[in-house]
Amino acid sequence: MKQTAYPPVSELPGKRHAEVVQEIFDTVPEAYDLLNRVLSLRRDVAWRRFAVERMRFFQTRRLLDLATGTADLALAALRRHGDIEVVGLDFARQMLMRGLEKTRRAVRKRRWGGLRESGPGAGRGGEGGCLAERDRPGRPGPDMMAVGEETSLGRIRGPGRIDLVQGDVRELPFRGADFDVAAIAFGIRNVPVADRQGVLKEMIRCVVPGGQVMILEMHLPESPYMGPLYRLYLNRLLPRIAGLFSANPAAYRYLVDSISNFPGPAAFGSLMAAAGLRDIVQYPLTLGATYLHVGNRPESSGSGL
Ligand SMILES: C[S@@+](CC[C@H](N)C(=O)[O-])C[C@H]1O[C@@H](n2cnc3c(N)ncnc32)[C@H](O)[C@@H]1O
Repeated sequence: MKQTAYPPVSELPGKRHAEVVQEIFDTVPEAYDLLNRVLSLRRDVAWRRFAVERMRFFQTRRLLDLATGTADLALAALRRHGDIEVVGLDFARQMLMRGLEKTRRAVRKRRWGGLRESGPGAGRGGEGGCLAERDRPGRPGPDMMAVGEETSLGRIRGPGRIDLVQGDVRELPFRGADFDVAAIAFGIRNVPVADRQGVLKEMIRCVVPGGQVMILEMHLPESPYMGPLYRLYLNRLLPRIAGLFSANPAAYRYLVDSISNFPGPAAFGSLMAAAGLRDIVQYPLTLGATYLHVGNRPESSGSGL
């Protein structure tokens, strides 16, 4: 649905915020990847690459990519760590459909070794299946639906070692400790403020003890020189460029608003610590316009986070 404007993020109550975000991302997938590249001058590709290079797969060899959108982080991780399995989760079906297309294309081009299209039965434990909860009693989310092959648990089957699942990051349909790494790229900013710590706790619950939780997110640069310039870019230039490409330019005004309202790196680091993450490291990228935040699930915590 094309909108002329969305209410300011600061005025959106939590439930309405999530509905607006879902509506926005269901209207932008066509131009989404192109605009990411144009608006960031392709830095978004480098930022995701920086993140996947820091991922450590040491036990389950599985990545949970939350708010996966069109699956860019998931695909970057598969290219870098050829033998891992990835589950990508998002609530915007149109973004996932685009991700599924891209995954199929990558499989056809054999972008990473040993990958094959999943055959019938893959979701029930067949060769090539990689669903996090496959054949296990878990907590299937109410909104999950099939895009490719419908499994008995009602999940989306993607090709090869990537599964795309429709669901809400605020209530993850996984039993827990299924993944070495749980990541969210440019997604946490879109989660209502009151739910952000809960999402971080869900991510901790889903990784094994010692596993990584990674958040890649845009911030307003704090430097006295970069800050004003970046604001000028965000408020003046970005909406105009988005207007040229996107079927829903209002979505990109929401983007500006959501970046402007997102806490700075220090405050976000405190939120990570309060959620229970340890050994937190924050990497500024492109003069602090984006940060990669990494924390670990403590070795000693039980699954009752
Ligand atoms: C800016 S996109 C990022 C997509 C992708 N991670 C990337 O790197 O390009 C944000 C994504 O977060 C998803 N999202 C936001 N809130 C969500 C929620 N509560 N549950 C699931 N997905 C959510 C949106 O549908 C959208 O696809």
